[in-house]
Amino acid sequence: MIDLRKLAEAGSIEETLLERIDLARLPRHIAVIMDGNGRWAKSRNLPRVEGHRSGIASVREIVETSARLELGVITLYAFSVENWKRPRYEVATLMMLLKEYLRKELATLMSNNIRFVPIGRIDGLDPSVQRELRYAEAETSKNTGLLFQIALNYGGRAEIIDTVNRIMQLLREKEMGDAVIDEDFFSNHLYTASVEDPDLLIRTSGELRVSNFLLWQIAYAEIHVTKTLWPDFRKRHLFEAIIDFQSRDRRFGGVDESDKEMFVENQA
Ligand code: IPE
Ligand code: IPE
Ligand code: MG
Repeated sequence: MIDLRKLAEAGSIEETLLERIDLARLPRHIAVIMDGNGRWAKSRNLPRVEGHRSGIASVREIVETSARLELGVITLYAFSVENWKRPRYEVATLMMLLKEYLRKELATLMSNNIRFVPIGRIDGLDPSVQRELRYAEAETSKNTGLLFQIALNYGGRAEIIDTVNRIMQLLREKEMGDAVIDEDFFSNHLYTASVEDPDLLIRTSGELRVSNFLLWQIAYAEIHVTKTLWPDFRKRHLFEAIIDFQSRDRRFGGVDESDKEMFVENQA
C-alpha cells in the first residue's frame, strides 16, 4: 500500500497535487531526459558543472519518490554517446559526480529496496566508473522494489545496432542463419530486455526533441515536456507530469470504446 504521508506533508502543494492523481492508474515505467543543468548554472553565473552537481539532489528526490509511489521502473538519461563532445573537464566532473552519487546513495537504494541497473555502452566508460557501477548493481540485485535504470554512454541508435549485432552472433552460434525474428524477440535482446516500455517520457528544460533516447521503447510513450530545468525538478513536478499523463487518451492506434459503439449504430 502506498504510504501517502511519506509522499507529501499535510497542507503542502504536493498534497494538493497528489489528491488529483489516480493511484490506481500510475504509469508503470517513467523515463526522464534530465536536461538544463548548464542553463541552470549559467543563469546563476556559475560554471556548467555546478548545474550537474545541483542536479544530483533532483535525482535523489525523483528516485525516492518513484519508489514511494511504487512505480515499476524509472529510467534516467545521464550521459549520451554524443556527450563525449563536451569539454574534457565537464565529462570528467560528470563521471566523478556519478561515482560520488553511487557511493553516497547505495545505503538509500538498499533501504528503499531499489534495484539499480546501468544501461548503455558501459564498457566504454572509465574502468573506475565501471567498477562502481558493477558494485552498486551487484549489491542491489536482490532488491524487489523499483527498478532504477541509468542510461550512460547511451544512444538509442547504438542500442539498436548493438542489438542487431548480438542477435546476428546468437543466430550464427546456433547455426540459425536463416531464422526470421519478430518484435518480441528483438525487444528481448535490447539493453532493456524484459523491462516494459516507458508509459511516460519526461523532458526538462523545454526542448522538444528526444536526443537519441530509447528510440525503440518510446514508440507509444506519452511525452511530457516541462520548462523547469533539471536542478529545479522536484516531487511536485513529477506529480504534475503524472497528472498530465493521466489526462491523455491512450489509443495505441485503435479507437475509444464509445466511438466503436457509434460506428456499429451508424452501420445498423
Ligand atoms: C543535462 O544538462 C545533463 C547532461 C546532458 C549530462 P545539460 O548539461 O545538457 O544542460 P544544458 O542543456 O546545457 O542547459
Ligand atoms: C540529452 O541532453 C542527454 C542527456 C540528458 C544525458 P543533451 O543536452 O545532451 O541533448 P541535446 O544536445 O540538447 O539534444
Ligand atoms: Mg542539454
